[in-house]
Amino acid sequence: MTFDFHKYVASIPDFPEAGVIFRDLTPLMGDGAAYAAATDAIVAYAKAQGGIDAVVGPESRGFIVGGPVAYKLGVGLIPARKAGKLPRPTVKQDYELEYGGINTLEIHADAIKPGDRVLITDDLLATGGTLQATIKLVEKLGGIVVGTAFLIELDALHGRDKLAGYDVFALMNY
Ligand code: PRP
Ligand code: HPA
Repeated sequence: MTFDFHKYVASIPDFPEAGVIFRDLTPLMGDGAAYAAATDAIVAYAKAQGGIDAVVGPESRGFIVGGPVAYKLGVGLIPARKAGKLPRPTVKQDYELEYGGINTLEIHADAIKPGDRVLITDDLLATGGTLQATIKLVEKLGGIVVGTAFLIELDALHGRDKLAGYDVFALMNY
């Protein structure tokens, strides 16, 4: 059975600023059947990419997507957290935000071992800055990014161009 995921996306004009149509995924996450079906679709993608040793999700919505995916794959979830949240030695990467400004993501330095095969998950691919930074963190630790998976890809922002050379799966495109 195919699932109509688009029914679970609320499109909000002029949020967070004039001219932007914000794609709100909380209806999908709040519906048990839709959340499970979306998780299953990403798990099927991950399995098709071959063995996965770990799932990495950028804070914070990447955790919502990555947690159930990691559970179903039987692997751990590694959080890529915003600066200053992780208590032990980390690797760090700056990136530019979609609406201006610079942010930093960090992963614990012992979270990934050289050669680990990693799936990166997030709710949404916009400019690709978040994902590009997350890829750099994984690679600083010697991990291999074997796939990236999103619930939504915003085509007009061309985030996929920043992920050239990496496999990209999106459940929905807007
Ligand atoms: C949002 C979203 C992605 C990112 C996409 O996160 O969850 O992680 O932006 O944008 P990009 O492709 O242009 O980098 P946000 O930084 O708003 O953080 P949040 O998940 O904590 O809300
Ligand atoms: N929707 C949800 N999250 C986002 C968006 C959006 O349109 N753009 C950047 N993060």
